[in-house]
Amino acid sequence: MAAIIEIPWWNSYRRLSTVLCSECRRPYTLKRMRPRPYSTATTSATKEPLTLNGKTYERDDWTNVPESILSALPRKLHVQPSHPISLTRKLITSHFPKPTYAHHSTFSPIATTHQNFDSLDFPPDHPGRSKTDTYYLNADTVLRTHTSAHQVDTFRANESEGYTISADVYRRDAIDRSHYPVFHQMEGARLWDRTKVPGGNIAKAVWADLETLPKHNLIVEDPNPPTHPERNPLQEGHHSQEEAEAIAAHLKRSLESVVVTIFARAKEAAIAAGDEAAKTEAPLRVRWIEAYFPFTSPSWEMEVFWQGDWLEILGCGVVKQSLLERAEVPQKLGWAFGIGLERIAMLLYSIPDIRLFWSNDQRFLSQFKEGEPMRRFVPFSKYPECYKDVSFWVAGSTSSAAGGAAGGTGPGNAQREFHENDFMEVVREVAGDTAEHVRLVDEFTHPVSGRKSRCYRVTYRSLEKTLRSAEANELHKKVEDILTERLGVEIR
Ligand code: DAH
Repeated sequence: MAAIIEIPWWNSYRRLSTVLCSECRRPYTLKRMRPRPYSTATTSATKEPLTLNGKTYERDDWTNVPESILSALPRKLHVQPSHPISLTRKLITSHFPKPTYAHHSTFSPIATTHQNFDSLDFPPDHPGRSKTDTYYLNADTVLRTHTSAHQVDTFRANESEGYTISADVYRRDAIDRSHYPVFHQMEGARLWDRTKVPGGNIAKAVWADLETLPKHNLIVEDPNPPTHPERNPLQEGHHSQEEAEAIAAHLKRSLESVVVTIFARAKEAAIAAGDEAAKTEAPLRVRWIEAYFPFTSPSWEMEVFWQGDWLEILGCGVVKQSLLERAEVPQKLGWAFGIGLERIAMLLYSIPDIRLFWSNDQRFLSQFKEGEPMRRFVPFSKYPECYKDVSFWVAGSTSSAAGGAAGGTGPGNAQREFHENDFMEVVREVAGDTAEHVRLVDEFTHPVSGRKSRCYRVTYRSLEKTLRSAEANELHKKVEDILTERLGVEIR
């Protein structure tokens, strides 16, 4: 029997299949932590086309993007001066100097399904394409789910050897302190051109470039070979082993020096805040683990040992040559990475709740200043929480199969499958940032009727004021009404 390894939710684009364990050589299956059926719920019955940034998008059966999400489009936290997301972007970008790297931070969040998925070799049935995971404007247009959506276009523009792209990205997701449907990523890439080196083999040039990178004395655990025929294959016919090894070494060193800086800054901030333990903290531990992305091979993730746990902080790999062919630069080869900015900012500044990034409260915003030494966030008084349960009979059956992209029935159909993300969406729509956490507290199947029941606990807490009980009741009642109306559930 193959072991089942549950993979963290945030990394949604890994392969769902059986691979060999790097240590024991036994097969194991990568499985998502949550079931991924696709569902059909959309948030609006209106047929009016969507107009965004002066362009019109016809609605269809795929449209599922609510107004509350669209209202986040103009916020662009990653470029707001002195915002912690923007400061984090700048800190990382400083490791990728011009002119080798060009920096982009203004690409539109509206992407075609081709850009977001097909151009990156996502298979047609990849769960990331499902309506439960992704915000669709219509069948062909999404709010980008990752900065990788711009990879092929940026390779095609061919304006520098490398680049970074920072942007807001959108995913339907759970509600808790570290998940928000809009977050920010930075993508980076570095390519070399075969036609510019003698003999067309770039390995030597890459090693020479690596020599110019800053050195560090970080202890890095990297137990696996640079490529592995089953687990992490070389792109045979495209790259020689020595080229892949050189690219991997350059990639790893570039990213290691980013984390060295991030954690050195976090430590300085902790010491400045009077955290005595930070002075004697054990040295930073970092490890590379093998990974899978449809658009790189070999691929890795970097994990950092942080507060007693291994924390995944980025994904990366050697760019699939098919992408570079699509971008009409087949003579180039190199690496790419993607990193989540909220996670890094939360750790750098000790920010306890992801919703704070969206706050307009000066008590939050005034704590961050461009050009000043990094300081830890000092939490301001927390307002009391108020939680309410909602129990209901689920309408359709919940399949645990991974959701496909094709098919799906439109709104108004009698048989609607229940998906947790649809529930999350209703809560977000009604309560916005006042929804702090949603947790499944009970689930059962009636022994006679076979009907399925779920009970969720919704924790409401405003970041800005004390929520009155009557206000929380009103919000919760609205959640119940929309649930019944839109998801076809029956409140118990
Ligand atoms: N796009 C990936 C994600 O959102 C992260 C990523 C992985 C980006 C590997 C890359 C890459 O450019 O090469 O999970």
